[in-house]
Amino acid sequence: MTAEMSESQDDRLIDSFGRVHTNLRISVTDRCNLRCFYCMPEQDPEFVPRAELLTFEEIERVVRIATTLGVDRVRITGGEPLVRRQVDRLVAAIVRIPGIRDVGLTTNGIFLKQQAPLLRKAGLTRLNISLDALDAPTFQKITRRDRFQDVVDGIRAAQDAGFDPIRINAVSVRGLTEDQIVPFGRLAREGGVEVRFIEFMPLDADNAWERSRVLFAQEILARLESEFGPLDPIADGDRRAPASRFRFRDGRGRIGIIASVSRPFCADCNRFRLTADGRLRNCLFSLEETDVRELIRGGAADEQIAAAMKRCIAAKKEGHEINSARFIQPERPMHSIGG
Ligand code: GTP
Ligand code: 5AD
Ligand code: SF4
Repeated sequence: MTAEMSESQDDRLIDSFGRVHTNLRISVTDRCNLRCFYCMPEQDPEFVPRAELLTFEEIERVVRIATTLGVDRVRITGGEPLVRRQVDRLVAAIVRIPGIRDVGLTTNGIFLKQQAPLLRKAGLTRLNISLDALDAPTFQKITRRDRFQDVVDGIRAAQDAGFDPIRINAVSVRGLTEDQIVPFGRLAREGGVEVRFIEFMPLDADNAWERSRVLFAQEILARLESEFGPLDPIADGDRRAPASRFRFRDGRGRIGIIASVSRPFCADCNRFRLTADGRLRNCLFSLEETDVRELIRGGAADEQIAAAMKRCIAAKKEGHEINSARFIQPERPMHSIGG
C-alpha cells in the first residue's frame, strides 16, 4: 500500500499514539491591549503584518476542511481576539459550518462591554475570560497596563448578555499571586463564575520562566481547602479537557485547575492550533509548524490542505517535555500561539 492510500484509510486526525483530534484552537491576531509578562515582551513585540493574517474567509475554509476530518469544536484565541475587528462575524460563520458543535472564545475581557451582546447573538457558546488578580495594583504588575476595571466591567457585561457558565482563567505565579487564591475562591463561590487556576508555563517572550516560579496545583488546592473546606473532584467532566474540576463540599461554587506542569494531560490531548499567520501547530510546545497559508494562497485544493493537516497531526510528539532536561521552549511566545 502506498503512503497516500494508507493516509486516506481513516478520515480522522489521528496521531501515532492513537489520539483523535477534534478540537481546533484558532488565533485571529497576535496583537493585544495588555502586556502580560508571561506571554509578551514589555517592549516592541513583533506583530504579524496585517496582509499575512489569514482572512476570515481563509479561516472559515480551514475550519470546513477540518470538519471533514472530524473536528467539531473550535475556540477563538489571540493575542486578544477582540482587538480584531468584527470577530462576531467570524463566530457566526463558524457556528454555521455543518459538523461544528460549539464555538468558544478566550479573551482578556477588556472589550466585552461593547462586544458581549454581539458575540452572544453570533452564537458563541463558551466564554473564558483571563484575569489573574482581583486587585488593581497586582493586575497592573502582571499585565503592565491599568485596565483592571475594564475587565471587571467586561465580566459583568458578559453575565448580562447571558453567557453561562463563564470561566475565569487565573495564571498562578509563585511570589506574585499567592494572596489571590482565597479571593478567587470567594469569587467562585459568590460571583456566579467558575474560576480556573493555571500553572505558569514556559511560553513567555523573555525566556524568564523558571520552575521555581510555578505555583503548583496541590498548593492552590490546599490553600482553598484550608479556607473553605473540602473540595471534591467533579467526575462527569470531559477527560480530554485540560482542567481538573472540583466543587466545594458545601455545594457553593466550582473551581478548576490546569496543572500543565505538575500533572501534564498530554496523553488525552485532542487539540491542535492554527496561528493568526496561518500555521498549524500540533502542540502548544511544538517546534515545527505546517504552513497552510502558503497552500491556500498558492491555490491548493481542499484535499491537499486536508492531507497537510493529517500529516501535521501524525507527526505529533507524545507530550511536552517541560519536566525534562530535553525541554526546548518554542520560539513563538504565547501571544503568537494563542494559548
Ligand atoms: P475548552 O476549549 O473549553 O476546553 O477551553 P480551555 O480551557 O482549553 O481553553 P482556554 O483558552 O481557557 O485555556 C486555558 C488554559 O489552558 C490556557 O493557559 C491554555 O494555554 C491552557 N491550555 C489549553 N489547551 C492546552 C493544551 O493543549 N496543552 C496545555 N499544556 N495547555 C493548554
Ligand atoms: N502560562 C500559562 N498560561 C498562560 N496564558 C498565557 N500565557 C501563559 C503562560 N505562560 C493563558 C492566558 C489565557 C490563556 C489563553 O492562556 O492567561 O487565559
Ligand atoms: Fe494579552 Fe492574553 Fe497575552 Fe495577556 S495573556 S498579553 S491578555 S494575549
